[in-house]
Amino acid sequence: MSYRHAHHSRFPIHASNPDYLEVTPQDARLMRQAPLHLQVVGGGFVRFKASGQTLDELGIAPQDQPRRLYLHRQDHEAAVSDIQRAMLDGMFRDMVKQGDQATIKQAFTSLVEEAFLEPRLSTLMGFQGMVETFVEEYSLAPHLLRAFLLVASEGYDLTEHSVNVMALVAGCALRMGHAKPRVVDYCLAGLLHDVGKTKLDEHLRMPARSLRQHEFSRYKLHPLEGQKILRQGAGIPQPVLDAAAQHHERLDGSGYPKGIREVSEAGQVVGLADSYELLTRNNSGGRKHLPPLESLSLLKKEADEQKFSLDVFRHFAHSLAS
Ligand SMILES: [Fe+2]
Ligand SMILES: [Fe+2]
Repeated sequence: MSYRHAHHSRFPIHASNPDYLEVTPQDARLMRQAPLHLQVVGGGFVRFKASGQTLDELGIAPQDQPRRLYLHRQDHEAAVSDIQRAMLDGMFRDMVKQGDQATIKQAFTSLVEEAFLEPRLSTLMGFQGMVETFVEEYSLAPHLLRAFLLVASEGYDLTEHSVNVMALVAGCALRMGHAKPRVVDYCLAGLLHDVGKTKLDEHLRMPARSLRQHEFSRYKLHPLEGQKILRQGAGIPQPVLDAAAQHHERLDGSGYPKGIREVSEAGQVVGLADSYELLTRNNSGGRKHLPPLESLSLLKKEADEQKFSLDVFRHFAHSLAS
């Protein structure tokens, strides 16, 4: 386990014992599979609750709960799954229904960030349910997708990019008239398209400057790394695998990493959303971002050059206007 980026984590590392992670009192209530620990006089840790039950189920009321509880770092994956499950049991749906886009986006982004610290199939696929809720609610109110996209956090990073691409893909896939399960697969594909970048050093993930040649050759491998992570188990929807591998491929063979000319629809939709997001992103380091229309006309040019199918491009463009 690396925890290279744990300073971003929802669970900060304990100041004197790096094997333990702090849990907020609210998050502690959500832990079922993840055991919780307590620090005792002298600095050692003892188990406060085992795996399998929440504090609620054990009859421990919030006011009786120790103020500081800790996770063992080996239970990080279980803790992320516990929060995903709790989100699904209503929290996320309620948030979406209440319609505060900043809160929804923040909840989504922080959980994606946590899962990207240690990208495991179980936690990555754990987003399927949340994405389903997202698609269900937003398909009824497409204008909210735009509001969702406009929420920007202070430091633009890989997770915000991924969540934005997911939202752009949602608009396009709904516009294409695909059935709900396919829209969900495409959205998950958008969310996870760059998961291979978690293997890159942080400064290479969303580079604000152009990369040196050796950096770029390393960078270009992220689609393959992503596919490798997603292939750790069975049952991953094909569009998710395709988009991870193909979002930088172009129909004219000018893309990377393989320069193939056959790019699936999911690969193209995610590729368009990815390019558009990068061109228009709110916080773009050194480079100035472009207004939506200019970005679209750049992409239109690429479609005219047969890098993307014109049909897919039209759906994408219309979804932004609807
Ligand atoms: Fe990428
Ligand atoms: Fe990307």
